[in-house]
Amino acid sequence: MNITVKTGDLLHESSDLAILAVFEDMPLPDNVAGILEPADFRGRAQQTLLLYPRGAVAPRRLLLVGLGQRDKLTTETIRQAAATAVQQARAVQVPAVTIGIHGDVPLPAQTTAQAFAEGLELGAYRYWPYRTGLTTEETFEVERATVVTGDSEEPIRQGIGHGQIIGRAVTYARDLVNHPGYALTPAVLGEQAIALGQRLGLQVKVLDKTQLTEHGFGGILAVGKGSANEPRFIVMEYGTPGPDRPTVCLVGKGLTFDSGGLSLKPADAMETMKSDMGGAAAVLGALQVVAELGLPLHVVGLVSSAENMPSATAYRPGDIVTTLSGKTIEVLNTDAEGRIILSDALFYAQRYKPAAIVELSTLTGAIIIALGSHATGMMATDQALADRMSRAGEARGERVWQLPLWDEYHTMIKSQVADLKNIGGRPAGSITAGAFLAAFVGEYPFVHLDIAGPAWVDRPTRPTESQGGTGVGVRLLTEFLRDYAPAV
Ligand code: BES
Ligand code: ZN
Ligand code: ZN
Repeated sequence: MNITVKTGDLLHESSDLAILAVFEDMPLPDNVAGILEPADFRGRAQQTLLLYPRGAVAPRRLLLVGLGQRDKLTTETIRQAAATAVQQARAVQVPAVTIGIHGDVPLPAQTTAQAFAEGLELGAYRYWPYRTGLTTEETFEVERATVVTGDSEEPIRQGIGHGQIIGRAVTYARDLVNHPGYALTPAVLGEQAIALGQRLGLQVKVLDKTQLTEHGFGGILAVGKGSANEPRFIVMEYGTPGPDRPTVCLVGKGLTFDSGGLSLKPADAMETMKSDMGGAAAVLGALQVVAELGLPLHVVGLVSSAENMPSATAYRPGDIVTTLSGKTIEVLNTDAEGRIILSDALFYAQRYKPAAIVELSTLTGAIIIALGSHATGMMATDQALADRMSRAGEARGERVWQLPLWDEYHTMIKSQVADLKNIGGRPAGSITAGAFLAAFVGEYPFVHLDIAGPAWVDRPTRPTESQGGTGVGVRLLTEFLRDYAPAV
C-alpha cells in the first residue's frame, strides 16, 4: 500500500472513501453529526459506520471508525482501528482512500501515524497463493491511502515510514511461516536469506551439508539426517562492529517441518508444524527492519535450519551427538530437536563476542500449557537484558513472561553417558529446554524466547491477525534493538 501525507481537512477533500477515526467521548463534526442517528454510532473501539453523505461533506463515502475513549487510547487501539478500516474499504472496493483523525490525539503524532500504518499493512494481509477461483471482489486490494492532517506533516510521514517498514517485515515473516513445508525447505530458506541480503546490502553466508560436515555442525546434521531436504546454517550480517556499534546476535530456530522424527508426533500435533521456523522468520524480518531503518548496530542473524523426519537415515533415541562446541548430547527424544540444532548456532554466536545473544524458537509445547498464546516465555542469563526485553514487549504489545533458570534445572538435563541429555522429563519442560540452550552460550549475556504459543493463530480474534503465522518477534526485536542502539 502506498501511504502519503497531505495538509488539509479530510471532510473538505474530495475522495471516494474518507476514513475518519473518532473518539467515543468527543462530539462528531457538525456536518457529520447531522447525517446520522447518534444511537447508530458511538465511537467505541473498532465500531464502524459507513455513510453516504450526498454532498453534506466532500467525500463520496465516509467511514467512521471508533477509537474508544480518548484517555484510554493506546497504539494497539489505533492499529486495530486501521486494520478494521482497510478491511471495510476493501469490502466496498475503493482503491484509494483518505484518512484522518477527529480531535486531539493524546499520543505523539509520529507514534500515532506509525501505529496506523502498521494496522493498515497488517489488516490487509492474507495468505492466498494457493487459493484458486477467487472472485475480483475477494482479490481486491486498497492501493493508496492519503493521510489528511491539520498538523505538521513531517512527524506523520516519519511515523508512516516506520510503520510500513515494520508492518511489511511482519507480513514477510508471516509469509515465511505460512509457506508449506515442501515449498519452504532449509535450502529455500537459505535462498530467502540471500535474496534479503542482496536487497538490503547484508553479508549473507549459507552453509550446505558438505560445509556443515567439514566444520563439525554435529547438532544440525543429526537433526537433518532423516530428511531428503538437506539442512542449512544461515549467517546474515548487518553493519560492522565498532566501539559505538555493539554486536547483537539474533538466533532463530528454522525447522521447516517438525514431524518429531522417529519419536513421531501424533497427527493433530503435526498439523501446524510447518510453523516450526517461526523463530527464523522473526530473525529475517527483524534484520529487514534493522537494515531499512539503518540502526547504528552490528546485528548478526544466525539460523539453524533442518527438516525433522523419520526415515531409515534419521537420528535415533539413544544416539549421542557431538555438537560444534565439542559438547555431547544424548538424544532421548528426537522430537526435542530444536535445542539440538540451536546448540550449534548459539556456540557459533560466541565468535562475534556479542554484547547480547537473543534467540527465538518455537521450542516447547509446555510453554503453551503455561502461558497460552498470549505471551512469549523468556529465560535469561542476564537480568538487565531480560528487563530490556520485557520493556520492549510491553511497549509493542508482544508480551514476554520470564521463567527462572536456577541451578536445579541444569541438573535435570545432565546425562550419564554424554554431557547433556535432550529432555529433562515433563516437569518444567520449557525451563529445562532453556537451561539446555544456556549451556552453549559461554559467558555472553543470553535471552531465550520461546514463541511456541504466539507464533501461530488458528482463530484470529483481532483485525490485525490472520489465520496461520503471526510474525511474532519481529516487533519485539525491532523495539528491543531500537532501544539498544546507541543514541545518534
Ligand atoms: N516444535 C516443537 C514445539 C512446539 C509444540 C511448537 C507445539 C509449537 C507448538 C518441539 O520441537 C517439540 O516437539 N518439543 C517437544 C519437547 C519434548 C519432546 C520434550 C514438546 O514440546 O512436546
Ligand atoms: Zn519437535
Ligand atoms: Zn520443533
